[in-house]
Amino acid sequence: MQISKSFSNVVTNLSWFIFNYNKLAELIACSYRLGQFIQQSEQVSYQFKQLNQAENGNERLSLENLIIKKPDGKILLKLPDLHINKGESVVLSGASDIGKSTLFKIISGLYPYYDGVVKVPKFKKLFLSQNAYFPMGGLAHAVSYPEPLFEKDLTVIKQLLFDVGFSSEDIDKYLLNDNLNTLSGGEKQRLVVARILMHKPDWIFMDETTNALDKVAEKQLLKLLQTNLPTSSFIIISHSDISNYFNKCYQLNLS
Ligand SMILES: Nc1ncnc2c1ncn2[C@@H]1O[C@H](COP(=O)(O)OP(=O)(O)O)[C@@H](O)[C@H]1O
Ligand SMILES: [Mg+2]
Repeated sequence: MQISKSFSNVVTNLSWFIFNYNKLAELIACSYRLGQFIQQSEQVSYQFKQLNQAENGNERLSLENLIIKKPDGKILLKLPDLHINKGESVVLSGASDIGKSTLFKIISGLYPYYDGVVKVPKFKKLFLSQNAYFPMGGLAHAVSYPEPLFEKDLTVIKQLLFDVGFSSEDIDKYLLNDNLNTLSGGEKQRLVVARILMHKPDWIFMDETTNALDKVAEKQLLKLLQTNLPTSSFIIISHSDISNYFNKCYQLNLS
């Protein structure tokens, strides 16, 4: 009687593994994926650390022996050595898909697949893409981003919105009204210019940020940037010939 009870106990306890087999398999798979994730993030943070180390004490943007690669290791673009001092600007052009936007991702520290040295200036930088991100909120939030909106800044923001071409009526209507989806591509790009004027960065990286504007408006807004930020450096990816709108600016065609 005792033997049969013990046998039944052993069977019941061992069958735990049978009933929980699925959960065990899930646990193993999750642990494996988590392990891979930790390994990858350590690798990436090591590469970013190298990039950040180059930032310390650096007052100019330098690209040395830079070869941009795809994640699979294939070469995307070889760049000429480039040294840009604060106050100098450069307009980068080149065919589609050669790696211009990827170059900005490298400089901002978001893309680790490259050979060579990238020395990033330590001063205040702002990166802006063709379709800039706007947070929830109205025109004022879009201008103050990536900083939060402070009420004390509203007067300045309203003036900036007016300077980049918004009508007083639209400013009042949409200042804090969460309905930016109705804005045209050009209006969104005017907002980006207002954001630059608000933050006054030392280094401004613009990736085709004015390409939805007509030539006259583009010229006006770029002139506005140059006049208000005469000591900043503008690194601009553009297919238009805009280098003459900036001081000490040269055109570099990447190919
Ligand atoms: N993270 C990534 N993974 C795979 N391919 C990428 C990645 N980033 C960019 N690429 C590829 O690199 C090429 C260059 O892209 P991009 O830098 O956006 O070109 P463009 O010169 O038009 O700005 C494209 O073919 C794109 O698909
Ligand atoms: Mg691009």
